[in-house]
Amino acid sequence: MKLLVLNGPNLNLLGVREPDIYGKKTYADLVRAVKAECRRRGIAVKILQSNSEAALVTAIQKAYGKYDGIIINPAAYTHTSIALLDAIKAVAIPTVEVHLSDVSSREEFRKISYVGLAAKKTIAGKGIDGYLEAVAFFAAGEAEK
Ligand code: DQA
Repeated sequence: MKLLVLNGPNLNLLGVREPDIYGKKTYADLVRAVKAECRRRGIAVKILQSNSEAALVTAIQKAYGKYDGIIINPAAYTHTSIALLDAIKAVAIPTVEVHLSDVSSREEFRKISYVGLAAKKTIAGKGIDGYLEAVAFFAAGEAEK
């Protein structure tokens, strides 16, 4: 199994960025945790972060035919990007949406998720563990259902 993990804008600033909301762990900690979980489960993984919507769309397009699943935290693009929604629909790769914070209990504008419309599952409010839960979801074959 091959998974692509995509992280959107400002997630590179984890640890520095509003730690009361996003936690004190850094982006490097996130990458380490996801890689370790995938290694443990014998899953190949590529992890990317970009502040650019275009780069994220291109990464999804390039995943076509190469990955069995996408785990994406689109960050602020969650709430704005029809382009990311369309890209996920276009490649039809099973996708799990992850948010570190509980977006449902924050500002009104964070309750809208375009990407979520194409996601098999949304995991929010569990910090970095949410990514590990997404890996487990794929490992259990839940994404095929
Ligand atoms: C986020 C939630 C988004 O609303 C926000 O714009 C982010 C991070 C999260 O992981 O909790 O950048 O996706």
